[in-house]
Amino acid sequence: MDRTARQRQNRHRGVILWFTGLSGAGKSTLAHAVELSLHQLGCHSFVLDGDNVRHGLCADLGFSDADRRENIRRVGEVAKLMLEAGLITLTAFISPFDAERRFARRLVAAGDFIEIYCRCDLEICEQRDVKGLYRKARNGEIRQFTGISSPYEAPEQPELIVDTGRHDLQTCVAQIMDLLRANGVIQAKDPARNESHAPD
Ligand code: ADX
Repeated sequence: MDRTARQRQNRHRGVILWFTGLSGAGKSTLAHAVELSLHQLGCHSFVLDGDNVRHGLCADLGFSDADRRENIRRVGEVAKLMLEAGLITLTAFISPFDAERRFARRLVAAGDFIEIYCRCDLEICEQRDVKGLYRKARNGEIRQFTGISSPYEAPEQPELIVDTGRHDLQTCVAQIMDLLRANGVIQAKDPARNESHAPD
């Protein structure tokens, strides 16, 4: 069994959608919303994020530069395996360093890695502070917090930028679904029929 056979059975191509951005930028929420849209089209997908990776596979890692690098290295390798399994694989990690994102990109063929920068100003992430971590980081209760006391290197040439700070969730989802159509992962909208996934 190889990837081609799996993709034929799935009736769509596999691809890695690599979301990157600050904590609170909405990466995970967006990845899950895209996954739901894909599911409704009958596509096979999986989201890797802190919730299912940092408590298990990467439970031994913290937030030092070295640990973040190792976190992203493992996520890249797992995403590669999932791609081999024919899945549309969505990864939602801060992935703050350009070098590790490039490492993950180079693990797979050109076109199999779509980098999506969830752009959201630090001020907005901090204002939202969904998990209360920014406040703790400002108080010095959490060290090496991305954007406050640890760097975030914004991607220079991502395949897509979504302005998660300014646009609502559905707008961002639509942008990504459009890109997947443009890349032939899912089929273009056909006004005469219901939307469906690409045959191969
Ligand atoms: S990454 O840098 O290694 O890519 P990852 O995406 O796995 O980070 O985890 C980030 C999440 O962990 C944040 O959204 C936040 O909820 C939590 N977190 C805890 N400590 C930190 C920290 N020091 N810096 C950033 N995020 C942290």
